Amino acid sequence: MRIIFLGAPGAGKGTQAESICSDYSICQLSTGDILRSNLKSGTELGLMAKTFMDKGELVSDSIIINMIQAEIQKPELKNGYLLDGFPRTVPQAEALDEFLQRNGNSLDAVLVLDVDYHELLERLTARRTCRNCGKSYHLIFNPPQSQDGRCDSCGGELYQRTDDSEETVLNRLKVYNEQTKPLIDYYQKKNLAKIIQGSGAISDVYSRIRAVLDK
Ligand code: AP5
Ligand code: MG
Ligand code: ZN
Repeated sequence: MRIIFLGAPGAGKGTQAESICSDYSICQLSTGDILRSNLKSGTELGLMAKTFMDKGELVSDSIIINMIQAEIQKPELKNGYLLDGFPRTVPQAEALDEFLQRNGNSLDAVLVLDVDYHELLERLTARRTCRNCGKSYHLIFNPPQSQDGRCDSCGGELYQRTDDSEETVLNRLKVYNEQTKPLIDYYQKKNLAKIIQGSGAISDVYSRIRAVLDK
């Protein structure tokens, strides 16, 4: 199964991706996570990306396309994948189409998580992220269960992403509206877009996703 996960910053892509990938035995490919892990290990790509990420701007299409092409060909993705945070622009979507076509593959669905603007703001400004595995928490809606306030999955330290400051969040939402939202129309024309109501309890949102994928 090959799925794209579209949705504004804070829509819950990372949160839901975890359950989808485990239940359908596919790999999550998050461009944001790959960039952050490059930054952590101090690669040239990570350092370059940081200047864009900290402002809430997109990294250039050519860099992202090269990066994802290298990742998507890895043998562990043979079973399928869920793209989280890619494509984010029309040129990225066109590059993906070309890549799939060249390899005789196609997409099964494009899931679009729809969440109201104020809820997105509320989610992002109180999000905490695991420094080690990237898992998302929320101080109120989805706090860690462990007593010591560390990641439930791996015990890693939770931190606030530098792009979760209010100023950067506002710009990320603006960039989403201008550059990524047009992709909903792009995939609607291909009959692939499935709009899913993304507010409500995390488990309820997941049930809606399953209902769509199980069709
Ligand atoms: P990226 O890391 O992809 O960030 P994003 O798209 O802004 O999305 P988020 O990770 O912020 O949100 P999410 O939907 O995963 O939400 P989450 O599940 O964490 O990208 C970061 C940057 O990298 C970009 O700004 C750009 O610079 C660069 N980049 C990445 N890809 C690129 C590309 N293709 N091209 C160019 N540049 C690129 O949930 C959010 C919060 O809500 C959490 O606290 C969570 O606990 C909580 N929550 C989740 N679901 C619920 C619920 N149902 N109810 C209540 N709370 C909930
Ligand atoms: Mg995410
Ligand atoms: Zn973790």
